[in-house]
Amino acid sequence: MEKEKETIYFITGNNSKFKEIQKLFQKEDLSYELKQNTIKTTEIQASSIKEVAIFKLNSVRGKMNSSFFIEDAGFFVDVPLNGFPGVYSKFVLNTIGNKGILDLIKDYSDTKAHFKAVIVLYYQPNNEILIFEGVVEGRVAENIRGRGGFGFDPIFIPKEFPNRTFAELTVEEKNSVSHRGKAWRKLVRYLKEIR
Ligand code: IMP
Repeated sequence: MEKEKETIYFITGNNSKFKEIQKLFQKEDLSYELKQNTIKTTEIQASSIKEVAIFKLNSVRGKMNSSFFIEDAGFFVDVPLNGFPGVYSKFVLNTIGNKGILDLIKDYSDTKAHFKAVIVLYYQPNNEILIFEGVVEGRVAENIRGRGGFGFDPIFIPKEFPNRTFAELTVEEKNSVSHRGKAWRKLVRYLKEIR
């Protein structure tokens, strides 16, 4: 008889994030079933995404009875904003938004930006916590473009697709170069090695 697949939960209230990971998951032959779980995690304000992500994971660890992971990301405008909004990404998106970011940098023609994602996995069989990171480099677009994606996607142009914003890419294209896609592929490598 075929062994029953273990469930692995992605804890997120962000359906766009879940869809991206689900697309990536479907490409892999993994002995897991992926499910979304929207249990509330505690989000702290810290100086790094990694700290935020680890805290989030630990805030629900006692409530979960299986392997699960959470993911935290940030958008960093390296030139000319020295990495802002970074760990303040959510707050900035909810306050000044993409238009506000473009207003801040309107006098600069050369910009540099990156997204960073940190996935923290609680792997139940070994009772261990593992961290996987991914970064995508690019620049800020001159204007808001595209209908896909979410968050800062309409103002970020990745190096690999120099004429399109993340919001103008398909989910597959975004996943192929994105911070989240890279962190995810590292997690997959780990899961494949361990079983
Ligand atoms: P979170 O805390 O990981 O949910 O992300 C912080 C902020 O960055 C949120 O406002 C998200 O909408 C935004 N964000 C996270 N990942 C992405 C992405 O892949 N593209 C665009 N914006 C993102």
